[in-house]
Amino acid sequence: MKRRLLLCLILVLPIVALAQGQAPVINQSTASGNIYTEILIIVFIVTALIILMAALSMLKAFRVIAQEMLHPQPYVIPESIQAKEYTEWKNGKPETPGIWTKILGLKPLSEEKDILMEHQFDGISELDNPTPAWFMWLFYGTIAFALVYMVYFHVLDYGLMQEEEYEIEMVAAQEERKIFLASSANNIDESSVKVSTEAGTIDAGKSVYTANCVACHGDKGQGSVGPNLTDPYWIHGGTVGSIFKTIKYGVPEKGMISWEKMLTPKQISDLSNYILSLKGTNPPNGKAPQGNKEG
Ligand code: HEC
Repeated sequence: MKRRLLLCLILVLPIVALAQGQAPVINQSTASGNIYTEILIIVFIVTALIILMAALSMLKAFRVIAQEMLHPQPYVIPESIQAKEYTEWKNGKPETPGIWTKILGLKPLSEEKDILMEHQFDGISELDNPTPAWFMWLFYGTIAFALVYMVYFHVLDYGLMQEEEYEIEMVAAQEERKIFLASSANNIDESSVKVSTEAGTIDAGKSVYTANCVACHGDKGQGSVGPNLTDPYWIHGGTVGSIFKTIKYGVPEKGMISWEKMLTPKQISDLSNYILSLKGTNPPNGKAPQGNKEG
């Protein structure tokens, strides 16, 4: 026992040492793509272990042989082999079937002659072992299941077909996608808003503008109470970020209200881009420029 423990230690220690020594090397070599060295080392260790085990078993066998040659002893069945079946067979008692025999529904050896089948080939004959009950139940079970399945899915049309399930899942996924896109689209503020000339964005901005801003900025952005939004002059800055900021927070003391609570960030972003698209359109009756010239 002690010797085995020592052996294990001798085996394990170099591996641990190797693994520790290898750790940084592994990182380096994987970085350079040379993982084969590690695989080779592992294969080498495993092979060495197998050879060692084989050598030890052979050593043990040689010892037994040498012992037997020097001091021959009559053969005694070791206790481990003195199994119940063996004793029963020796004493001629009927054997009790083991678990495996039961599971497979096999007849005990003593009854085999009753189920021997007629034919024979080269002295090899066949046993007519009955199919185990559990297997028959399973078999009839699958038939019953198939019947129920057939009626449920194909005759009464209760269950959903794969394709229908797929469609439903796709619709649900589309919904989720819309919600996700809406929430990410609304994740905009004055620092992250982007310039866009997409027709969809401009159109969306135009309809929000028509509904909310015409009264003070004119139907074409020419300005009335509020300033002209089509000229290159800006009081609060003409970049997309500044326009977004002006719309979002407003200039309450000058009559431009804050739209933060009434419009979504996406709408404000569309509006800002719509206003940018008005630049240089020169509508009739444009209000005189206010603020600083930009761009
Ligand atoms: C009640 C009238 C009123 C409404 C409605 C209004 N504005 Fe204004 N807006 C103003 C006034 C007045 C100013 C000028 C503020 C100042 O002088 O600082 C202004 C300024 C602006 C500016 C800054 C212009 C610059 O030169 O820097 C932008 C951009 C703007 N408005 C966009 C909008 C948008 C978009 C809407 C609709 C959602 C809107 N406004 C609705 C009155 C209004």
